[in-house]
Amino acid sequence: MTQTDTKNLRRLVRDIPDYPKPGILFRDITPMLVDPEALHQATDALAAPFLGQKIDIIAAAEARGFIFAAPLAMKLGAGFVPIRKPGKLPFDFHSFAYELEYGTDELQMHVDGVKPGQRVVIVDDLLATGGTMEACCRLLEKCDAEIVGCSFLIHLVPLGGEERLSPHKVHSVLQYE
Ligand code: PRP
Ligand code: ADE
Repeated sequence: MTQTDTKNLRRLVRDIPDYPKPGILFRDITPMLVDPEALHQATDALAAPFLGQKIDIIAAAEARGFIFAAPLAMKLGAGFVPIRKPGKLPFDFHSFAYELEYGTDELQMHVDGVKPGQRVVIVDDLLATGGTMEACCRLLEKCDAEIVGCSFLIHLVPLGGEERLSPHKVHSVLQYE
């Protein structure tokens, strides 16, 4: 992606102060999602470091992770495994509780979502504290998946998510200081 493309994508992220709580600067990607060319570019940029590699599964947590997961899976020739908030999965699941930048939550994944040794890329719209992605990694580790990397559209660098996810590979399209 060229610098101009990156600038264009960045222009389509809207900053909303004090949402959903005072002190949080919310990075709203909906203006990007509604723009067909930007949506395409964003998906391509999320996939870029993994092109040409054998990727079996794209995993993602609801809700915003799902937006990019299916197009990414199709681009990389992979399947898709949903990681869901409690009460949504019909079969046996693993569970992991975590903290958010603005609250706490829990994520769950079917026990047979990923087979041992399968190569997985996890995608999300945004990396903040890394709690959500750490939960995803833990769930995939419970299934003995091989985590190839974590791909984000937006990385809020000062919140330390990348360090929290170490040693997993973190790729992000737009970085915010
Ligand atoms: C947002 C975002 C990431 C997560 C990032 O999801 O889509 O998944 O927060 O924050 P973290 O790095 O501190 O965990 P949210 O939990 O708000 O749910 P949503 O996708 O349903 O809006
Ligand atoms: N998820 C966690 N922190 C966020 C932020 N600042 N903007 C949008 N989504 C988020």
